[in-house]
Amino acid sequence: MKQLLAAADLSKDEIRFLLDTAKKMAPIVRQDGTIPLLQGKTIVNLFFENSTRTRTSFELATRKLGAGSLNFAASTSSVAKGETLIDTARNIEAMRPHAIVVRHSSAGSPHWLAKNVSVPVINAGDGFHEHPTQGLLDLYTMEEKLGTVAGKRVVIMGDIAHSRVARSNIHLLRKMGASVAVCAPPTLLPPHPETLGVDYAYRPEELLKDADVVMALRIQLERQNRMQIPSLAEYTAFWGMNQDRAKLLKPGCIILHPGPVNRGVELDPEVADGPRSVILDQVFNGVVVRMAVLATVCENEKLKAWLAGHGGK
Ligand code: CP
Repeated sequence: MKQLLAAADLSKDEIRFLLDTAKKMAPIVRQDGTIPLLQGKTIVNLFFENSTRTRTSFELATRKLGAGSLNFAASTSSVAKGETLIDTARNIEAMRPHAIVVRHSSAGSPHWLAKNVSVPVINAGDGFHEHPTQGLLDLYTMEEKLGTVAGKRVVIMGDIAHSRVARSNIHLLRKMGASVAVCAPPTLLPPHPETLGVDYAYRPEELLKDADVVMALRIQLERQNRMQIPSLAEYTAFWGMNQDRAKLLKPGCIILHPGPVNRGVELDPEVADGPRSVILDQVFNGVVVRMAVLATVCENEKLKAWLAGHGGK
């Protein structure tokens, strides 16, 4: 792997390798340890959209691997003076970083960037296209809690039409043998959802009782030209994950959310903080999964040697 642009590009073996690598790194990170595979390297975080979890966990993952990180925020850069994405990236590339992590509102921008720079590019979310490292950390969290996703039923609820997280999860989960269903009002589903290889329903009650995993998603108002539901109150009443709907779930069913959570809209606070919620586990797992991705993309030889010394691949 020389880059990570989309979950759709990953083979089952590559997904397994990344998850197993993250699993080996996790106990060391939990005990505050470092794994200095990228010493002397610099990773640039090029974020043209806001982020809390993704940017900070890439930064922490970079530090845990012994590398330095350079954070670029579009709002305080020369992008505000009209500089293009490609000019920005080429100028940053001229400073000789070892990888660029990019988030951008335009779908396909990481692919465009990867064609125009010679350093590895990692997609940290592009428009409503993909968010591959989020999909990987979600999958890692599901395996951590359930053992495997093969044969498991994953229900994704919310704004599927505008969600890069849903798209990356669907690609990864289907490859790893899960069955996926999506649920949203018709205006928040993509046209012909069955072409994604998923089942779908307009009402959560039709899907929740069979779920092993429920993932709630935020309504991506920033990606909608106009509000595509009558009101947030109506959305919450019919599609929100509240305590009554949580009572429909099987014992052992877990609830995920990629964040940021709009409490009281797609997820009630009692459910977000309740016993089924694994939201903060997702956040920790984001660090180790991103360590695995950075090490694989930037320094595969040292990583192979490290894995050999830690029980093999
Ligand atoms: N899940 C996610 O991408 O969160 P941030 O927008 O905070 O990075």
